[in-house]
Amino acid sequence: MLVGAVLSMVPFVPWGTFLSSTVKTGSSTQYLYQKVTIDDLPAEYGAAAGQVANINDLTTFPPNKSWVFTYPTSGDPVTDAQNPDTFQKFALIRMPVELGGDSKKATDFVAFSKVCVHLWCSPNYNPENTTNPADETYQCPCHGSVYRLPDGLAIAGPAALQAFPQNAIPMMTLQADASGDLWVFAPNYDPATGSPVADSIEADGVIGFGRDYQSYENFLKPTALKPVNVKDETVVLSG
Ligand code: FES
Repeated sequence: MLVGAVLSMVPFVPWGTFLSSTVKTGSSTQYLYQKVTIDDLPAEYGAAAGQVANINDLTTFPPNKSWVFTYPTSGDPVTDAQNPDTFQKFALIRMPVELGGDSKKATDFVAFSKVCVHLWCSPNYNPENTTNPADETYQCPCHGSVYRLPDGLAIAGPAALQAFPQNAIPMMTLQADASGDLWVFAPNYDPATGSPVADSIEADGVIGFGRDYQSYENFLKPTALKPVNVKDETVVLSG
């Protein structure tokens, strides 16, 4: 409790300290978007290991299951799998069917930070072996914080007792391209301006700190999507 109280008062580390949200291409800077590529761990992720998540693939990426990806990626899912930095790890969760996980839309998925906003342990989503709806949550093994789908609000445990906005797990914004491949936006990407908002608790939040979960609807379902540059490619993102 004491440690938690102290940690809750220290200034938290912003996204930018850990994540590069831009890439340099020649003389220009572009915001970094990447396909959501699962860490290459076959023993854990089976056929999904090393694969790009696709909204239309209900076999490799079925509802009510989760995988881990690395952002920013090294470009090699085998190398990513060996990266131990949980501040660069995100749980990709395809929601259960009752939450629309088989709709074949980007919103079937959420990407939660692997860093609990309590004391930075690593939560998991493992409901597939039970039939208990209470298990369809993102759960931290250390002190029992429980985050709900799809907005990541803590509903139990010490994280749920923390003051807003330290009571919700940061999450990345996802969109799908025309082939169904899932892309992750740069942290705190604002679709209205086409650029990230630094250290915003709205939108994606701040890793290890929290997130304005009430911004979920506005941010995950932006009304004005526009083409974005992905390194040398142009991808038109759609809902
Ligand atoms: S670190 Fe304490 S509940 Fe997650």
